[in-house]
Amino acid sequence: MSLQNFLSALDSLKSEAIATLDSATDADAFEAARVKYAGQKKGALKDVQKQMGSVAAEDRKSAGMRFNEVKQAIEAALADAQARLTGGGESGADPTFDPTLPGVRPMIGHIHPITQTINHLTEIMGRMGFEAAEGPEVEDPHHNFVALNIPEDHPARDPLDNFYLATAATGDSKQNVEGTRLLRSQTSTVQIRVMAQRQPPIRVISLGRVYRPDDPDATHFPMFHQMEGLLVDKHVTMANLKTVLRVFATNYLGGDVEIRFRPSFFPFTEPSVEVDFLWDGTWIEFGGAGMVDPNVFRAVGYDPEEVSGFAFGLGVERLCMRRHGIKDIRDLYSGDMRFLSQF
Ligand code: PHE
Repeated sequence: MSLQNFLSALDSLKSEAIATLDSATDADAFEAARVKYAGQKKGALKDVQKQMGSVAAEDRKSAGMRFNEVKQAIEAALADAQARLTGGGESGADPTFDPTLPGVRPMIGHIHPITQTINHLTEIMGRMGFEAAEGPEVEDPHHNFVALNIPEDHPARDPLDNFYLATAATGDSKQNVEGTRLLRSQTSTVQIRVMAQRQPPIRVISLGRVYRPDDPDATHFPMFHQMEGLLVDKHVTMANLKTVLRVFATNYLGGDVEIRFRPSFFPFTEPSVEVDFLWDGTWIEFGGAGMVDPNVFRAVGYDPEEVSGFAFGLGVERLCMRRHGIKDIRDLYSGDMRFLSQF
């Protein structure tokens, strides 16, 4: 083929390809044009390239240079058409988008430290056979008090110590009438809910929010989390309670954690104790515990002569703060990313 013919074949290919690509109005037309002109196997560019072999040897250099120009022109037209058809073309370009700026790494979120703690505690207790159970945060006095052996005149039911809700039934937020509701003040409510539905043996934990009208300071917040534990079976003793809590504390806090019981009182356990862990050389109170009171068993229809059990309630924030060296509970709920992203 003469150089002349080769160059004119290139020219017509170039104008035809660019015209076709410029007038392509959808992805199918674009794809058809791409295959026709730039297809790897049978594309027109490939065809012309093959014909270069028949151009006289001394003309081949100029043929090759022109071929490369045409190839680049068609590739540029392909890129333009693609950008235009996928919405990234010049007409639709976002004027505030500067493609020359370095890329920004997207900020990937992570699980809140309290949720991480809840997952961790659930996993440790799961290894000892405790299954997770849940109950509502809006409770009735039966589950929050009555079935837990907390009588009507008990100070724990005082409106100043609870978030009673105004409901359709109560109008105002009165307590002790039918329809009274409150934000649960303890997860012990879930003990009642589980026992009312199941028969012993029972081995559950319940992790969730509780509410008390405390002024926020470094160690108090009107909403916090508890881990409730309940084990009911035949011949359960305080030695079992102590072992479970000690194994738990050793797993969560690390090292060999000493545990101490101090005599206390809860209406729903007898005897009742405060639970302290010796960690880093200091005794710290983490919650309350005891043997389930016979009146609680009666309230859920169990025979206290037949079964026995223990229950405990530990502060989740306190555990989390100890483990991570957090000094102020309010940091957990301020939503400050500088704090939260450390966990
Ligand atoms: N519910 C008690 C509290 O909130 C803790 C507790 C749970 C005590 C179970 C004994 C048994 O303080």
